[in-house]
Amino acid sequence: MTTDSNNRDVIVKINNLEKTYKTSSETLTILKGLNMNVSRGTKCVIVGKSGSGKSTLLNIIGGLDTASSGTVEIDGEIISSLGEEALTDYRQKFLGLIFQFHYLLKDFTALENVFLPSYMAGVSKKDAMEKARALLEDVGLSDRANHLPSALSGGERQRVAVARSLINEPELILADEPTGNLDPANAAVIGDLLFSMADKYRKTLILVTHDMNLAAKGDLKLFLRNGALSEDGEL
Ligand SMILES: Nc1ncnc2c1ncn2[C@@H]1O[C@H](COP(=O)(O)OP(=O)(O)O)[C@@H](O)[C@H]1O
Ligand SMILES: [Mg+2]
Repeated sequence: MTTDSNNRDVIVKINNLEKTYKTSSETLTILKGLNMNVSRGTKCVIVGKSGSGKSTLLNIIGGLDTASSGTVEIDGEIISSLGEEALTDYRQKFLGLIFQFHYLLKDFTALENVFLPSYMAGVSKKDAMEKARALLEDVGLSDRANHLPSALSGGERQRVAVARSLINEPELILADEPTGNLDPANAAVIGDLLFSMADKYRKTLILVTHDMNLAAKGDLKLFLRNGALSEDGEL
């Protein structure tokens, strides 16, 4: 593994990232001089207490929020300098996103929820359906393909969310507490599934959690504390 900034194997490179929120009475500094290098193919887990800034960091990497200062370089591009079209492209094609809440469309079946991002990215209906079916099979849900989200268990909904995150063949998967709404047994199963899918499809994964069992599955573990990351520590 390398941390050389010029090496093309570094897919995420963050330099001196700061994020502050200004309220009427004070300025809150959430991220403070944060640096991070993630090599392609790494399954990186960031652990931190509730309120430590995990979602803030992931949202900035995902182009859903902006930094106050510092740079986030993804695959050689500084994302804050991307135009609107390039940013949309980045979110749609380069990233796969998984959240604590599944955000499945309630009026669409499991299969349709996996299919739609592909179809909307311009893949033909037939090909997108084929891909969606294969991914649902991968996550063990072939027999639930025609169920609406309301007819699925919490674990099954997260399986659909995992399949959906992969449909556009993203380079980078961002997962924000993906097991946070599940009971411990389901959390372990979904955690294993996510890591094995990342392995199978050779994706880079950045996952944030406060679940140490989930964190143990990563091959790079970073601790977010006082607005910065370190390789050692405890929660
Ligand atoms: N829009 C906002 N305005 C002010 N403070 C915010 C805002 N969003 C998040 N925060 C604060 O930033 C801190 C980090 O939040 P977050 O990134 O959600 O933490 P985590 O995901 O680790 O629980 C929290 O103290 C939260 O209250
Ligand atoms: Mg959070």
